[in-house]
Amino acid sequence: ETASLNGEPAFKRPRENGQVESLRTPKEPRNKVTVVLGAQWGDEGKGKVVDLLAMDADLVCRCQGGNNAGHTVVVDSVEYDFHLLPSGVLNKKAVSFIGGLTLSLACRNDERDKRERLKISDRAHIGKSCFEIPLISFSLPHLLIVFNFHQAVDGIQEQQRQLQAGKNLGTTKKGIGPAYSSKAARNGLRVCDLVSDFTVFEEKFRVLAEHFLTMYPNLNVDIDNELQQLKEYAERLRPLVTDGVYFMHKALTGPSKKILVEGANAALLDIDFGTYPCVTSSNCTVGGVCTGLGVPPSYVGRVYGVVKAYTTRVGVGAFPTEQDNEVGNLLQSRGREFGVTTARQRRCGWLDLVLVRYAHMVNGFTAIALTKLDILDTLPEIKVGVAYSVDDEPLPSFPANMDVLTRVSVKYETLPGWCCSTVDVRCFEELPSQAQSYIRFIEDFLQVPVKWIGVGKSRESMIKLF
Ligand code: GTP
Repeated sequence: ETASLNGEPAFKRPRENGQVESLRTPKEPRNKVTVVLGAQWGDEGKGKVVDLLAMDADLVCRCQGGNNAGHTVVVDSVEYDFHLLPSGVLNKKAVSFIGGLTLSLACRNDERDKRERLKISDRAHIGKSCFEIPLISFSLPHLLIVFNFHQAVDGIQEQQRQLQAGKNLGTTKKGIGPAYSSKAARNGLRVCDLVSDFTVFEEKFRVLAEHFLTMYPNLNVDIDNELQQLKEYAERLRPLVTDGVYFMHKALTGPSKKILVEGANAALLDIDFGTYPCVTSSNCTVGGVCTGLGVPPSYVGRVYGVVKAYTTRVGVGAFPTEQDNEVGNLLQSRGREFGVTTARQRRCGWLDLVLVRYAHMVNGFTAIALTKLDILDTLPEIKVGVAYSVDDEPLPSFPANMDVLTRVSVKYETLPGWCCSTVDVRCFEELPSQAQSYIRFIEDFLQVPVKWIGVGKSRESMIKLF
């Protein structure tokens, strides 16, 4: 037995001529992907961390979600908002790849000029807005399509939830949820369907539209008009479509390459591990990298968790460390906590380490990027949530049941603030000692090193620890 892959010995089979045939030559994966993931409820500042890592990446990928996510990257005082494209597209040398997400077929104008180095998986499901982008390659035929009626249904469903239960989920109403439900119902349509025989596509499209019309009779769908538009898109897309699994396989096993995967949304919004039902429709934890891109788990290398120095949440749902008071207001206004996609005001509270430790259990973070430390600069003392209990009974971890999460009492540690500006600090040793203690407290609690600290919006406002 020779070297092994993940501890698995090489398989050998004796041949009739007495020789031994090696069935597999075990090899360590060549180019592992580096992954950046949100560790809270989103808006942690993943865009900036991805941008930093993308500067020397060869390939930057998105693997889940849709145009419901929003990253902001500030370079040379210019602010770029991204919704569908990987923010790594700012690196002119890198190829950007859109994997297993839902695809809207009309992109915002400001995303169009970043299109040249973009490849999209043909396995993605389709949405309306992206065809304005002359894409170089749709490489995953699995990409799912979001149609006009998906978007309309998203709005209707939110309205119904509000009427029936008095609360909506706070979706971005981009149609991502309904498109993912079509995917799960096995009647969704993907890029590979669109670029094949259009008569077959049309038939399936009509069935899908009828299905939604039966469920929502008031739905306003102009089937013929949308089909005509889709036909045009299909013509423009067809030459660009390639197989994304093969594309990724080549990238992983070919010549040395730096590959970056940019997670959208965040751990607590994950459809399986998040605060269900107030979650998004995809897996935004590390498993989504494998299912979205067709990448084997053994090719997942470093996993960086992005943690905001406090906690925010958009929309409804339990939020144990929320500060509906002056502290929350201060974090909201200093942190400019408004959504990029919806402009909604975010709820704010103290850093919840029970929640981040849970995100780490699911994702296995290699290291953490702690963002927005500068927002805490003016606070005389800072609290950190370190344990939960319900009815005086301590909880061992983060509860799955949202009614339980709504009732938890949080145990806090109170740490001294530093009451001075950190925005110009560029190395750890120059941070005020209280800020250093805050970072060390987080590391000790999570048993994960902090690799970067964000102290401002711009690309330069990052302290690198190692
Ligand atoms: P989602 O994918 O929607 O979850 O968003 P995101 O995690 O990519 O967050 P985004 O990049 O939109 O960042 C949120 C905001 O925080 C943006 O306006 C960033 O410019 C800003 N930001 C990021 N890091 C820092 C930081 O360290 N300090 C300050 N002051 N602002 C920051």
